[in-house]
Amino acid sequence: MDKLVIQGQSQLHGELEISGAKNAALPILIASLLTEDTLSLTHIPHLQDVNTTKSLLKYMGVDIKNIDDVTEVTAKEVINKNAPYERVKTMRASILVLGPLLARFGEAKVSLPGGCAIGSRPVDIHIKGLQAMGAKIDIHSGYIEASTKHLPRSKLQGCIFYMDIVTVTGTENLMMAASLSHGITILENSAKEPEVVDLGECLNKMGAKIRGLGTDIITIEGVDELHKASHDVIFDRIEAGTYLTAVAMTGGDVLLRNVKVECLDAIIQKLIETGIKIEAYENSIRIKSDGKLKAVNIRTAPYPAFPTDMQAQMMALNTIADGVSEVTETIFENRFMHVQELIRMGAQIDIRGNTAIIRGKEYLEGASVMATDLRASASLVIASLAAKGQTTIDRIYHLDRGYEKLEDKLNQLGANIKRIH
Ligand code: UD1
Repeated sequence: MDKLVIQGQSQLHGELEISGAKNAALPILIASLLTEDTLSLTHIPHLQDVNTTKSLLKYMGVDIKNIDDVTEVTAKEVINKNAPYERVKTMRASILVLGPLLARFGEAKVSLPGGCAIGSRPVDIHIKGLQAMGAKIDIHSGYIEASTKHLPRSKLQGCIFYMDIVTVTGTENLMMAASLSHGITILENSAKEPEVVDLGECLNKMGAKIRGLGTDIITIEGVDELHKASHDVIFDRIEAGTYLTAVAMTGGDVLLRNVKVECLDAIIQKLIETGIKIEAYENSIRIKSDGKLKAVNIRTAPYPAFPTDMQAQMMALNTIADGVSEVTETIFENRFMHVQELIRMGAQIDIRGNTAIIRGKEYLEGASVMATDLRASASLVIASLAAKGQTTIDRIYHLDRGYEKLEDKLNQLGANIKRIH
């Protein structure tokens, strides 16, 4: 298993290109199942979760070609309309194949996602939404078996569906299914995340009729067929936020390219509260920090509020900021696994329910720590960059799921990170 060895306390300077968003690339690759034509995609990041998605699609019979920077995905013949447990267990987003398969072929069999390190993460809303569109759904031996064969022309039927929790992949699954349904679907309390909007814009290029993207009421007028399209995947706001936080902590001066600053508002606002300087440009953002930070309180919530996927990184920042802060996690239970590892590096953190109370210290000290999930791993990397001495991070396969060339990018800015195989 690979490890990272990080020598701390190098300031970060220079420029960096932010990759395409994992959380947009995954649903957009899967949207290829909705048409027999080719989807041509750019800015698909090279990540383990993308490989897992591609191998699931290939298992189904989808043709995937990489020509220079373009990924061409063609689901002309789909032989296997199912997603077996072995292919779903490592990546929860695989549940996204359920809506497209059902909408185009009238049948789908998808394994229930397994338990996940950051909480129970059920998929009941995905299922209830498809049932509201008329699908028959049975759950047998850990599999969701869905059919529309009993419906007129075997098509899902438009409906009004209220999601009682804001769910990102739930909104995406139902939006894709509704695109090929009969009639109009109104999804209420939808997710407004930029990645949901990006998927919706890609679907509209494919011929879907979706309105209200970026608001909590999305209206989808079903069409009979979708067709070929080209789409450039939106930048990864969590990757950008992670690097901004890293520079804030180590001190330095860095320009990030390929960002839409307006998608980073909640993160930028919190970083500015810590005392760092931000310059925003049309497609880039510059951060300057002297490493002296004020502690800030954080409360995660659905977009546009502060993202849960940045909670661990911001907690790492608070461990070396001046003052006492509270970080409250409202989206996932059990998303404080980085806390014990940060404590190994000398952080002072107490957990009370879903709130962590952090007493800032002057510095953390290098230690041997363990990555537990994707964003927890990122928090350990940036904590190590700012810490005194050497840190070894074990189980970094989590990082490879979601950060493209993480150590290359940070080393390019002056970090000292080595990967040990
Ligand atoms: C997506 C992101 C993930 C991010 C999360 C929250 C992808 C591939 N992943 O995950 O990086 O951390 O949004 O921003 O885009 N819930 C239910 N029933 C459901 C669905 C969700 O109770 O049917 C609950 C979850 O347990 C959780 C909350 O709703 O408490 C939000 O989860 P959700 O937005 O669905 O997360 P994902 O889409 O899995």
